[in-house]
Amino acid sequence: MHSPSPNEIYHTLLDTEAPLGEVFQAVEAWKLLLAEQIGEADKMAENDDVQSQAGVAINVYEAFLCLTDCIRTAGFVRGLAAAVHEAQARFPGECIRILYAGCGPYAALFQPLTSLFSEQEIAVTLIEINSETISMAQKTVEVFGWESYVDGWVEQDLLTWTNLGKPYHVAVTETMQKALVKEGQILNSQHLVTFLCPHGLLVPQEVRITAATTAPEGSPGAKEVSPHLWLSPLADVFKLNLDTVPGFSFPYEYSLDMDKSMVSELEVYLLTEVRVFEDHILHWGDSCLTYPVKVLNGMIPSPSASSIVFRLGPKEHPHWQVGAAS
Ligand SMILES: C[S@@+](CC[C@H](N)C(=O)[O-])C[C@H]1O[C@@H](n2cnc3c(N)ncnc32)[C@H](O)[C@@H]1O
Repeated sequence: MHSPSPNEIYHTLLDTEAPLGEVFQAVEAWKLLLAEQIGEADKMAENDDVQSQAGVAINVYEAFLCLTDCIRTAGFVRGLAAAVHEAQARFPGECIRILYAGCGPYAALFQPLTSLFSEQEIAVTLIEINSETISMAQKTVEVFGWESYVDGWVEQDLLTWTNLGKPYHVAVTETMQKALVKEGQILNSQHLVTFLCPHGLLVPQEVRITAATTAPEGSPGAKEVSPHLWLSPLADVFKLNLDTVPGFSFPYEYSLDMDKSMVSELEVYLLTEVRVFEDHILHWGDSCLTYPVKVLNGMIPSPSASSIVFRLGPKEHPHWQVGAAS
């Protein structure tokens, strides 16, 4: 059987017309190639999650597993490539400086860029808190001969890092889970944007959390977000983007006013949509990052409740607390 080359794999991942089956095969081939050339991120290894100042930084094996979430990986690869193209249009003639925080064991989001851009066109700084993880990423860059693309390696918690060099055109991080719990996407993004030049780009461009309630199959406005689960949106409870991130602080709170008769019976879910860049979007239910999370089970004891309060915190391990209020 033909084993695809790295460039053939990247080509499929970057191709928005590629059928899903081909994307799955490309990710499978990529996984095998990396295991062969770099070594596998071993789930038996003594490598634990690390507590960063922004949230939990997942261990090397879980970080490797992210790669196998095919729709996530293809969405981020395509979105980042589109953001770099946009940066080239915004900053003509400049080498596009990319800050990649949380590069994981294979610097996965950087790899496909090498098939699109030369080392004169892009330069990347890679940050990773986990020493075992960054060693694998460094080996990846060495084995594939991409050293000339790399401006610097930083083995550190992003939140404790200060950039003493030039500002960046593009900053990217995928340090998130569904509904933005546990990991540090919000504070990592907040810190990253301080290193961007004016008109620089944050990837993902927006993460939107939407509260939704169960709805009858096929009802107008409702969407089947996982098999037999139809949800109808109630309101956006949080948006993470260049406008909201500078002023963000934990704990975050959003209050949704409701008809009293409804509140006591509601089953509420949080849905996540990730706009990686422009039309490269991970929709509700597409990936582990966007699966629905149930936060209220339809048994609110207070009959006088007229609103639902969504609270996200604390900063070291963010999770949602959702309850009714009068
Ligand atoms: C979800 S994995 C993503 C890996 C890879 N970028 C990808 O997309 O496949 C997130 C990585 O970010 C790292 N990380 C999380 N928070 C960090 C922080 N504050 N500073 C540096 N690295 C961090 C974790 O150790 C982990 O390797």
